[in-house]
Amino acid sequence: MIVVTDVHKHFGGFHAVDGASLEIKTGSITGLVGPNGAGKTTLFNVIAGVLKPTSGKVTMAGEDITGLPPHELFHKGLLRTFQIAHEFGSMTVRENLMMVPPGQSGETIWNAWIGRARIAQEEAALLKKADEVLEFLTIDHLKNEKAGNLSGGQKKLLELGRTMMVEAKIVFLDEVGAGVNRTLLNTVGDAILRLNKERGYTFCMIEHDMDFIGRLCDPVIVMAEGHVLAKGTIDEIKANDQVIEAYLGTGLKNKATA
Ligand SMILES: Nc1ncnc2c1ncn2[C@@H]1O[C@H](COP(=O)(O)OP(=O)(O)OP(=O)(O)O)[C@@H](O)[C@H]1O
Ligand SMILES: [Mg+2]
Repeated sequence: MIVVTDVHKHFGGFHAVDGASLEIKTGSITGLVGPNGAGKTTLFNVIAGVLKPTSGKVTMAGEDITGLPPHELFHKGLLRTFQIAHEFGSMTVRENLMMVPPGQSGETIWNAWIGRARIAQEEAALLKKADEVLEFLTIDHLKNEKAGNLSGGQKKLLELGRTMMVEAKIVFLDEVGAGVNRTLLNTVGDAILRLNKERGYTFCMIEHDMDFIGRLCDPVIVMAEGHVLAKGTIDEIKANDQVIEAYLGTGLKNKATA
């Protein structure tokens, strides 16, 4: 579904992503791991249109999507969550979800003129959808809670919930499990597996927790120093000498150029 070819992202002289190439197969839950600073989030930002690559190419189902802005990618069904959750704290959990779908009739004056009945109808449908999503994620008891009051783990679930308000094809999850307790992590994992199996979502997820990755992901891609080091099953990755070396930090060299 996604093919990344020789992507570079430089910040001044620093090569955060340094010739990364990878493929994400339709229907997979692909894991992206690697030491801190490997360039994982930066690569996500390039794929999701938040950052323009210095060079290289990203395609989705054969179509060149390099450098397209996030809202255009959103319409194509490419969504991402953020390493740091970005909920609207003063709004309720349910309202946060209802904000997500684009092109709601109520948004434009023109449509307000067409009729309030249709807007009310759409809002009712959105509300129903939001409640379904909350039930799916087993946080329906929190629907009227202000999002700012949620725990770190609950905010991560809400992030995942936002991707369920639209028809996503591929979702990029940046450390959706970070700071989430074991019980909630299982809930997040179950939700991801169900979305994958029942709704055909393809996932690419950055995660540091190898048990979590091992439970969900095949294949697992390892990044280090801005490029892809290895790809395989979790067991293959764990047994790979280059990967072990990268994690131990012995292979790190200073990549900053003049
Ligand atoms: N906007 C920026 N300007 C300058 N350097 C940046 C910028 N964004 C990221 N970097 C640097 O690029 C490198 C890769 O960062 P990135 O956030 O992509 O790593 P990561 O693999 O996601 O790490 P982590 O596992 O810690 O989240 C880091 O050294 C980081 O400091
Ligand atoms: Mg990161």
